[in-house]
Formats: sequence, structure tokens, C-alpha cells
Amino acid sequence: MVSQATSTKSVSTEKIPIVLTGHALQSLRDSGYSLPAALGEVIDNSLEANANNITLHFEESKAKSGKRHIHCITIIDDGDGMELEILQRYLQLGFSTRYMQTDTIGKYGVGAKLAALNYGQRIDVWSRTSEDEPWYHVYFDLEQALEEEQKGETVGIAPPDTEPLPNSILALVPQDSGTIVLWSKVERLEEGKKAPDATALKAEIKHELSRMFRYFLHDGIKICVDGTNLLPHDPLMLMEGTWNNKVLAEYYSPLIESFKRTGNKPDFPLPEVTKKHFPAKRITREGGEVIKIGQSSCKVTITVYPSEVIRKKYETNKKDELTRNLRLEENQGAISFVRLNREINYTTLPKIFGKRIESSHRFIGIEVSFKPELDDFFGVRNVKRGVEPYDDLKVQLRELLSKYIPEAINCINEVWGEVSRQSNEHQGEHYPLLEAVKEANRTMPKSRVKAQVEPEHKERIIEDLARDALPGNDEKKQEERRQYRESIKDLPFVVESVDFPGNLLIDTQHIDGQVIIRINTRHRFYREMWEPLRSIATAPPENISSDEAAKAARRSIEALTLLIIAYGKAESMDENPREHFSELRSDWGKFTDSLMGKVKDVI
Ligand SMILES: Nc1ncnc2c1ncn2[C@@H]1O[C@H](COP(=O)(O)OP(=O)(O)OP(=O)(O)O)[C@@H](O)[C@H]1O
Ligand SMILES: [Mg+2]
Repeated sequence: MVSQATSTKSVSTEKIPIVLTGHALQSLRDSGYSLPAALGEVIDNSLEANANNITLHFEESKAKSGKRHIHCITIIDDGDGMELEILQRYLQLGFSTRYMQTDTIGKYGVGAKLAALNYGQRIDVWSRTSEDEPWYHVYFDLEQALEEEQKGETVGIAPPDTEPLPNSILALVPQDSGTIVLWSKVERLEEGKKAPDATALKAEIKHELSRMFRYFLHDGIKICVDGTNLLPHDPLMLMEGTWNNKVLAEYYSPLIESFKRTGNKPDFPLPEVTKKHFPAKRITREGGEVIKIGQSSCKVTITVYPSEVIRKKYETNKKDELTRNLRLEENQGAISFVRLNREINYTTLPKIFGKRIESSHRFIGIEVSFKPELDDFFGVRNVKRGVEPYDDLKVQLRELLSKYIPEAINCINEVWGEVSRQSNEHQGEHYPLLEAVKEANRTMPKSRVKAQVEPEHKERIIEDLARDALPGNDEKKQEERRQYRESIKDLPFVVESVDFPGNLLIDTQHIDGQVIIRINTRHRFYREMWEPLRSIATAPPENISSDEAAKAARRSIEALTLLIIAYGKAESMDENPREHFSELRSDWGKFTDSLMGKVKDVI
């Protein structure tokens, strides 16, 4: 029964606004824009207003800690500007002159507002559509709006006024039409939160925007951040005039000059002439591979970086200046999603990539470009970042990558083979397998070897192995041995085929969790099985007769069976073989099974 008390409560008979503006905007501040993505929203708007020059200006102040942080950001464009009625509505959440269009970057009518409020509490905008007009101004201040709301007043946007432009940016203002967006009361960029300090934050902004807007920058649009004109950064490495080309030219030209002067060469091949463009190789066809989705389609382009970037195999994990400046680590397994020429996501998606991401993948460029018609399939949101393909698109993309990534890896291996031939680098016959085994070993039981090896002794063992693999005493050999020691340092298993006297087929040494195995190349088993199989495996198919291949296969079966018989015979030399060897046999069987399950088609 409804109580008397409830029925006498005063209930408003008027409708109330569905949105409590101040509070809602306060909540919407956490929309999840990164700072470059937020700035990207404003730049998108400038580009759509036909701007040719976009300038980002930051004002910093010192925090109590002594570090500087950004409290004010201005974005200036020389685009078409806004008519008065549009200017006032610029700040209205949901207002767009291209609402839900599919041929523009913007479509939701929220970008300019949410991006700004994500970092600051006040937005000021000045705009004019021609040189003869004054700069008209509108603003929104969240703090003020909350106060007004508290007092029961309606929160809104006042009509444009002629508030003068701030002095600090007068020199940057265009002569003709344009728009100036000022974010102030920026309190979410204190040092430590987004980056250690303002300098790091500005570097990150340049870094991200140069990739996000690479197509516009390449075609001549200027984006100037804190006094620096951005160069495009192309993760496909196909464009000319990019950041990568500049870095490579600066890296190689002094080396080439020094080689011409002194004859001294680094231990990797040098380009013959000073170049300005270091193009990647296309793995997919010119123009990209097309994926059809309903009536629409997207394009996938995959490239392999040039040999000047790939350099030497053993140094893939190197963190040197070139690797850092070319941003190779962030490219490892990354896919760049480009919507209407504007990158909206650059990220690794392991499920689509299909393979476990490895260091060699840093030399592969992958770009998926699409039009807004496919927004649903890519999960595009009003925060134009973090897209991820769905459904059929996801399946098709995964299939395409699983076809082209191995091709790309083959190209990388070819470069490595060529580089090592040119520099006479030792590439042990077992190396590719050892790298794969290293991965497989991560989840296998750990070694139980107790005896500790003294560091000097360990060094001695490794040096002996290096000498076995790379005999010789000249300086070059010593350097090669140094590189060799470096390359095997992190391998749990090192296998070398070496020539040693005696009947031993294999010899093993155990040092600090690392197992060093020498296979005796003088042993009949190696000579009559390994060698013939290897020469068949590495020869071009047209050079091998089927007779020869069949004979080698038969001899291998014999050899494997004899190997097992010889093992049985060796066990029988012990008085109690069951007790002494059954655990060994069981482990051996188990590990062979496990390794064969994880390592496949590496050679
Ligand atoms: N720099 C600018 N120059 C001229 N007009 C602009 C500029 N910035 C914004 N506008 C106008 O203001 C409107 C609102 O911008 P806003 O970014 O909020 O929405 P949008 O770009 O239409 O959609 P989205 O939310 O997808 O970005 C735009 O539709 C455009 O008409
Ligand atoms: Mg927009």
C-alpha cells in the first residue's frame, strides 16, 4: 500500500534536462585520449578546414618540485575559419557540420570539446573567415559552469565577442583566415603522470604526430610543434623525405666518408654512395593487397626494411643509436591503421599477427588503410584511437598476415645471409634452430646441474668453443670471436659441429644453466648422415636427383637405427642399466617430444 507520506512528497510536474551539463562534462573528461590523440582531434579539424600550416605552442611553468610542466596549449591554423554561428556552436557537445558523414575524418561532433576537457578545464577559440574581419572569440570554462550549475543557473555558451588574442601567440597568428584554439587550466599534465617532464612530453607529441599525420606532412602540410617543423615518420619506410631517411643518411654518410678517406669499414656492409632515400621492399603488390568487406574494402601493405636498417643478425636486439632513432622497437609486430590518410592506431595485436612477436619483426612494416564506411568493422569510436578489426575482417587480415609475414622473414634472412657472407661472419649451421630452442626452453623444466663453474673457467670454456668455431689468430678473427661470444651468451643450448679426435660423437659441457654441445664432424655418423642430408637440404631443388635424395634418406634411417642400437649396446656395458639410465631415457624421450612439438620448420 502506498503510504500517506509518499503521496504527499512534492514531485516536479515539469520536465528536467536530461543532461546535467557541468557534472556530465566533468565525468566525460576521462574519455581516454592520450595527449597526442587529443591534439590530433584539433589538428583533424584544422586539416578539414583546409589549413596548410598548423602550429602548436606550449606554455610551461615550474612546479614546486622544480620540474616544468605544461599548463597551456595553443593550436593555430590558417584554415577557412568559422562563420559566427558555427563558432558559437563549436563548443556545443554533439554539434558537427559533418555529422555522421563518411567522407570526413570528423563525424561525431565531440572531438574538439572532449579532447580539450580531457586535459584542461577551459577552452577559448578565436576564428575569422577573412583578413578583413576581427577575430571573434568564444569560450567555455568548466569550473565556472560547475559554479553556475550549483547556483541553479543554466550552463551555456555566450555569443561570440571580440576578446583580444593573448600576446604570447600574436606572432604566430595567420594574416588571413584561420582558427586559434587555446586549452588552459591544464592540470592533468603534471610531471610524472604522462611523462617525466614537459620536455619528454613534447618529444612524445612530436614523435606521435609525425607518424599520425605522415601522409599530410609528406604532401606538404606543415605542422610545427614547439618551433620544430615535423618530418613525416613512415613505418612502412616507403616515403621519401621522412624522419627515417634523415636518420639513415646522418648515420651512414660519415661512415662512407671515413671509409673513402681511411679504408676503414665497419663490420657491416656500407651503402656505396651517400643516399637520401632508403626505401623498404614491398612484400605485398604495388598499391596494397585488397580485403573485401561487403561493398567496401581495405588495403594492406607489408614491407621489409632495407638492408641498411636490418644490418647484422646477431645484433637484432641491439639498442644502439640507429635502433633508437629509427624507433625500431616500437615497430616490432606493430600494425598501423590508417583511416582517410590519418593514422588512428599503431599497435601490436598478437591475435591478428598470428605468430609470437619476435625481434626480427621490427624490420617489417604493416599498414592497413580504410575508409570510414568500414568504421563498424574496425571499431572506430569517438575517441579516434585504439581501433581493432572485428569479425570477418579480423579473419581475413589474419590469413593475409600469415601468408606474407613468413615471406617477409625470408627476405630478412636473405639480407642476413648476404651480410654475413660479405663480412665473412660465422653463422653456425645450427644457429637458427638454437634460437628457436631458446624460446621453446622457456617453459621447460630448469636444469638441475649443481656444480658451479668459476667465472674464469666459464670464460675459458666459451673462448675454447669460439676458437673451435672460428680458428685463427689475426685481428679480424679475434673480432669475429668477440661477436660470436656475444651471440651465444643468452642461448641455453649451444651446438657447434667441430672436428675433434677420438670416438666421441658428442661432447657436452654444463655451465650455469647453459649446455654446450659439440658434434664431432670426424665421426662417421656426422659424415654419413648429417653432411649428405645438409647438402641436399641446402641445394637448389633442380640440382638434386631423386636417386641421390632417396639414397640419403635410406642411409639416414640406417644411421638413426644404428645410433639407437649403439646406445643400447653402450647401456649394456653397465651392470644395472635399468636403475642407472631409465630416468635419463625417460627425460630424453619427454624433451624430444616437447621440443619437436614446439620447434618446427625452422631450417
Ligand atoms: N579549426 C577549425 N576550423 C574551422 N572549423 C572548425 C575547426 N574546428 C572545428 N570546426 C567546426 O566545429 C565543428 C565541431 O568540431 P568537433 O571536432 O567537435 O566535431 P567534428 O570534427 O565535426 O566531429 P568529431 O567529434 O568526429 O571530431 C566541426 O564540425 C567544424 O564545423
Ligand atoms: Mg573533430
